[in-house]
Amino acid sequence: MPGDMGRLITFLTLAVAPRIWAATVQLTGQTVYLAGVAYYLPPTPVTTIQGNTALGQKALKEGLLPIAVVTDDSEDSHFDCQSAVSKFSAVDDVFTEAFAGSIYVQATGSTASNATNSTIYSVNVAANAAIPEGPYFLSSSGEVYEAWRLYTDFAGAFTETLVGANGDTFGVLPANIAGQQLAVAVPSRLYYTKTAEKPLAGVRLGIKDIYDVAGVRTSNGNRAWYHLYPPATANALPVQRLVDAGAIIVGKMKTSQFANGEQATADWVDYHSPFNPRGDGYQDPSSSSSGPGAAAGSYPWLDLTLGSDTGGSIRGPSEVQGLYGNRPSHDLVALDGTMPLSPPLDTAGFLTRDPLLWAEAAKALYLYNVTISHSYPKQIKLYGFPKKVSEPGDDLLLDFVSKITAYLGANTTNYDVERSWRRTHPANTNPSISDYLNLIYPILISKNQVDLVREPFYEDYAAAHDGRKPFVDPVSLARWAFGDSFPESAVAKQNARREIFADWFAEHGLAPDPDTCSDSILLYVGSQASINYRNQYISAPVAPYGFGISRVSPFWGGPDFVLPIGQASYRSEITKHKEFLPVTVDIMAARGCDGMIFGLVQDLVEQGILEPSVAGQSNVGGGEVLFKRASQ
Ligand SMILES: *[C@@H]1O[C@H](CO)[C@@H](O)[C@H](O)[C@H]1NC(C)=O
Ligand SMILES: *[C@@H]1O[C@H](CO)[C@@H](O)[C@H](O)[C@H]1NC(C)=O
Ligand SMILES: *[C@@H]1O[C@H](CO)[C@@H](O)[C@H](O)[C@H]1NC(C)=O
Ligand SMILES: *[C@@H]1O[C@H](CO)[C@@H](O)[C@H](O)[C@H]1NC(C)=O
Repeated sequence: MPGDMGRLITFLTLAVAPRIWAATVQLTGQTVYLAGVAYYLPPTPVTTIQGNTALGQKALKEGLLPIAVVTDDSEDSHFDCQSAVSKFSAVDDVFTEAFAGSIYVQATGSTASNATNSTIYSVNVAANAAIPEGPYFLSSSGEVYEAWRLYTDFAGAFTETLVGANGDTFGVLPANIAGQQLAVAVPSRLYYTKTAEKPLAGVRLGIKDIYDVAGVRTSNGNRAWYHLYPPATANALPVQRLVDAGAIIVGKMKTSQFANGEQATADWVDYHSPFNPRGDGYQDPSSSSSGPGAAAGSYPWLDLTLGSDTGGSIRGPSEVQGLYGNRPSHDLVALDGTMPLSPPLDTAGFLTRDPLLWAEAAKALYLYNVTISHSYPKQIKLYGFPKKVSEPGDDLLLDFVSKITAYLGANTTNYDVERSWRRTHPANTNPSISDYLNLIYPILISKNQVDLVREPFYEDYAAAHDGRKPFVDPVSLARWAFGDSFPESAVAKQNARREIFADWFAEHGLAPDPDTCSDSILLYVGSQASINYRNQYISAPVAPYGFGISRVSPFWGGPDFVLPIGQASYRSEITKHKEFLPVTVDIMAARGCDGMIFGLVQDLVEQGILEPSVAGQSNVGGGEVLFKRASQ
């Protein structure tokens, strides 16, 4: 390989050298402040307003003129453009009143007449030449630029923030603002209209940095990896599906290293763990989709994040940040262009505050593999629920069960997977499920990742760095070393156990049903003001042995979705004050019944039993994240 690389470089040098004189300046847009708000203007104008207009005169004086663009498609001449513009701020956080001082009316109706004074410039425009309504900046030469608002990533959730460069590739956002972190640019919501072809038009999306995004490098949470490999030339398949549906990628987000579970703060050596905004603001954000979880919990301006779940990497961050998060049935979307941890367990799903957008996004990501349905089982299995109210949050859990039971007209039974296995386990298996399944997870993730990730990485790094080894965080190293201590045959042995368990659970746990997809649903407690301070000193990492209810879905391949149902109080060791953390419930149904769960979520939202999660200190009431409020 090094030899090939040397020849390639020589060739490129020869080919490129004579053309250096032709180098052109590459414009990357500009950053401006308007009434104290920072905006990024992409380099390419969306249209040009011709002629010696009143707006053009103002722009000439001011350099860049903020304008509000509205479209008048009425057939009479009584269009009240000022009242049309005044409605913008209700639906868009990019627009502010500062854009309303100059209004550009695109009259597309046949009888609309041109009208111009120092505030309003109205012109007849063919409907297909009209640009979307919203806030823009007009240059003195008549060019109209989009306004993207800049926000600070104060939670430290992004690794790199992005803007679409040209066509389908992305580049690093060339802008920054105060906040000691990266700036994130989001376009006006007014520019986009959702359609059947573009159901996610304008949806602001963050991507966990294990998925390739065309034009930028992937880190997998490792600095050496980021710098070793060139930018991706194509989007990962899950990313491409979301781009095709119209989503706007605003950045790559932090993952714990190689998607292995890391606990803040000591485990996070290469990158600092993002901040969980809830409660005292110093709780672990969970991993490995830590950036997606922290950002979805922190930023009202961000709509959707793409995470991945091998053994809890979507569910953990969703639980502790109070978000909707889905570990889908296995294999609903192929993971081309995505770093593997263990292919038989790896899945792609979302973390979001919005339960209805969640289902729309799932349809775009899984396409024909998910069908929303509204016929539900009448049997609810409860795992680990309180019997009576004794801890903070017990009341919410019991209330949720009683509401969903009443809504479905269902019966509840207590379900104990350990006991059920002891009674009905297949011949020649250990009656203790935790003994039988103990090594599946640590062996599959370590040995699969050693083969698929570590070995090629070490080889490529050594070739590029004179035989050296790259730095790797302690958790990945400990897991890989654990894998090295087993023979290759351990993988087949553990996969065989996994399949035996999967078949058993598909019969005795959650079975298919021709009418309701699943014979029952299973609920377990996801989080109940779960406390895990990020400033505690923790012990050295060990292999992730063991079995618990959250391991059922990875081993059996069915869906496990997190539903936020409220918050409960605790006394914070940081603030010495009462604070609140999320309460969540996990819901499972038979393998492939993801669409039934999404349908049920839609109905529970309509019934008022579920509500959108809120960004900020509280997943219920929002509010500025504590450290920010204190410093203001
Ligand atoms: C411009 O015209 C609009 C609509 O006719 C009117 O409401 C507004 O007051 C006018 N503004 C100025 C500065 O003349
Ligand atoms: C309206 O504006 C368009 C474009 O500037 C121009 O061609 C047209 O003559 C104007 N119509 C009237 C009635 O002023
Ligand atoms: C999802 O669709 C793909 C492509 O048709 C298919 O290969 C895959 O098996 C499907 N997955 C499931 C779980 O049905
Ligand atoms: C619920 O339980 C009651 C009492 O045990 C029983 O009569 C009823 O048929 C059950 N309903 C369902 C849907 O299983």
